[in-house]
Amino acid sequence: MDYINIGNVKIKKTAALAPMAGVADTAFRTTAKRFGAAYVVGEMVSIKGLAYSDRKSAELLTITDAERPAAVQLFGSEPEFVPKAVEIAERYSPDIIDFNAGCPVPKVAGNGAGSALMKDPKLFGEMVTALVKASHVPVTVKIRTGWDAEHINAVETARIAEECGASAVVVHGRTKTQMYSGSADWSVIAAVKQSVSIPVIGNGDVTSVERCVSMYRETGCDLVMIARGAYGNPWLFRDIDDYFEGRPAQPAPTLDERLNVMREQIELLVKCKGEFIGMKEARAQAAFYLKGMTNAAKYRGLCGKLSTQDDLYELIKLIKKENE
Ligand SMILES: Cc1cc2nc3c(=O)[nH]c(=O)nc-3n(C[C@H](O)[C@H](O)[C@H](O)COP(=O)(O)O)c2cc1C
Repeated sequence: MDYINIGNVKIKKTAALAPMAGVADTAFRTTAKRFGAAYVVGEMVSIKGLAYSDRKSAELLTITDAERPAAVQLFGSEPEFVPKAVEIAERYSPDIIDFNAGCPVPKVAGNGAGSALMKDPKLFGEMVTALVKASHVPVTVKIRTGWDAEHINAVETARIAEECGASAVVVHGRTKTQMYSGSADWSVIAAVKQSVSIPVIGNGDVTSVERCVSMYRETGCDLVMIARGAYGNPWLFRDIDDYFEGRPAQPAPTLDERLNVMREQIELLVKCKGEFIGMKEARAQAAFYLKGMTNAAKYRGLCGKLSTQDDLYELIKLIKKENE
C-alpha cells in the first residue's frame, strides 16, 4: 500500500473525503472514515469569524479522534486576522489546516475570499504566507482550475502556494464560473502535478472505483479527493480501499445495511448537535441514503418531515415493511 506525506502527516493513497459545508459534518466524516476514507476535511470556517470569537465558527472546528488524520478548513481574505484565527483553530488539534481558495458562492467569493483569490495572486500569496507562518501544522490550499475558461491559472496559483510554504495543493478541476456544473477538467490537475514538487490532490467527478483509478492514472495526482460521490455512500471508500489493498470487491450494500448505516450516522449527528438541529440536518442525509431505492420519491418526501429520532425509526420500519 502506498502512502503520501503532507508535511509530517502520513495518508494512505486511496481516497479522501472533500470538505462540504452543510453536508460533511462530523457524523458524515466519521462514517466516511469508518468505511476507509484516507483523510477528511471539515466544513469551511471564516477566518474573520474566528478572529471575532464567533462561537458558531468555532463549533465547526471540532474534530473527533475517529476522524483523524483530519483537516479543518479556513477561508478569508484578510491576512491581519490569520494569526488569531489559527490560534483558535489549533485549539481543536487539526492534523492539517486547509485554506479555501476555491469556493464560488457569492457570500465568500463576493468578499474577495475563496475562488476570488485566484484573481488576486498577491493577496493569495499573502494569505498563504500568513497561514504558514501562524500554523504549527502543515497548511494545504484548495483551488479551482481558474476563474473562468479564459483565465485558467491553477498552475501559477499552485506555484505561488508552494513558494509561500504550502505542504500540498488540492485542485478541483472546475472554474469558478462553472460552480458545480459541467465536468471537471482533469488535464489541469495533471498540469499542476507536472509543475510543483508538493503533493497534488485531485478532485472532481470521482464517483466510483473506476473513476478513482482513472484519476490517478490520467493526472498522476498523489491523492484523490471525493465530495458528492460520497453522499449517502460511504461504501465508495470501502470499495476503493479494497481495490488498492488487493482485496476482492464486496457486494453492494443490502437494503438493511444501507438503512443501518444511515441510522448510525444520524444517531451520531443527533448526539453531536442535539435532536432539534440534528434531525433537521438529518433530512438531507437520509434522502442521500434512500436515493435510487424503489419508492425513493415517496421516501424523500417523508425525509423532509423528520423531526425526531422516533420519526427516523418509523421511516426505517416503513421502508423495511414495503421492501420485504
Ligand atoms: C454541498 C457542497 C458543499 C461544499 N463545501 C465546500 C467547502 O466548504 N469547502 C471547499 O473547499 N469545497 C467545498 N465544496 C466543493 C467540494 O469540496 C468539491 O471540490 C466539489 O464538490 C467537486 O468534487 P466532486 O465532483 O467530487 O463533488 C462543496 C461542495 C458541495 C457539493
